[in-house]
Amino acid sequence: MKRHFFSGIQPSGRLHIGNYLGAIKQWTGLQDEYEPIFGIVDYHAITAPYDPNEMPTRILDAAAAYLAAGVDPDKSILMVQSSVSEHTELAWIFNCQTSMGRLSRIPTFKEKVRQTPGEVGMGLFDYPVLMAADILLYKSHIVPVGEDQVPHLEFTREIARKFNATFGEIFPEPAEVLGTGAKVMGLDGENKMSKSLDNCIYLDDSFEDIGKKIGSAKTDPARKRRDDPGDPDVCNIYSYHKIFSTPEEIEHCAQGCRSAGIGCVECKKIVVAHIEETVGPLREKRTELLANPDTIRDILVAGSDRAQKIASETMAEVKSRMGLTFG
Ligand code: TRP
Repeated sequence: MKRHFFSGIQPSGRLHIGNYLGAIKQWTGLQDEYEPIFGIVDYHAITAPYDPNEMPTRILDAAAAYLAAGVDPDKSILMVQSSVSEHTELAWIFNCQTSMGRLSRIPTFKEKVRQTPGEVGMGLFDYPVLMAADILLYKSHIVPVGEDQVPHLEFTREIARKFNATFGEIFPEPAEVLGTGAKVMGLDGENKMSKSLDNCIYLDDSFEDIGKKIGSAKTDPARKRRDDPGDPDVCNIYSYHKIFSTPEEIEHCAQGCRSAGIGCVECKKIVVAHIEETVGPLREKRTELLANPDTIRDILVAGSDRAQKIASETMAEVKSRMGLTFG
């Protein structure tokens, strides 16, 4: 029987090419060796203000994005976190093994506190505990995640160790598997691509959208006119070339930029065509899938049922070790 691991994304809106290259793409490559559980983590998404009317659509959207990117429901389990109550049940148990001091030192929490106006909710504080429960409920040995999630994985290993030492060995200490893909810079050229900064090329952007966004993106600020030579290493478009273009094109653009042999418009055209090669098929597949939302719903219901079977076995073991044997 294949081993499981859990990874998830929040249904908090549109996915961008950074999400795809940094996470989703590598997940699909692990489906032969493992039986992965890909969760749409809606209980994590409610730690920030949101519109309940939008949530069902966001969940369907996230599922369509997974499926379009190549998550195969015959090989992987696609589920919705709030459909499997064992996630919050185990999170409570882990809460009782966690100190407030430890949680307050997690860098993602500190950052969220800075970004959140007003009061900081318990859900935000407890976010890493629920994430540890997601991962350990399926006894994951590996977790493919983005680099920003490493502190959460460190915390997950600590919880596993503490639980095992107190109640007996149940949980592995999972290792993070980081994507090999380069960090995708945002269109501003200053930050990582991020929805909250609105500097993204989204997976459902049209060809025209992509053209417009790249067309108005900044290049080397020193290259004011077509005939000025430029420095590709300070040009954000060149960072996209390095991800999307062929070695020959990368060389052609770098040299052409330095010698003013090619202009930014021409250079951008090449990148737009390559981004479209990645985004185009995903967009088409996604639209096709969303035309039949019931099929996606069926996949999520079946996946959540299957996940619950695995989760309930772990919970039974946990409760028995903890002396919670009346239920
Ligand atoms: N915190 C993750 C993120 O924002 C999402 C997530 C929740 C997750 N639970 C998880 C990722 C478990 C991996 C495993 O990207």
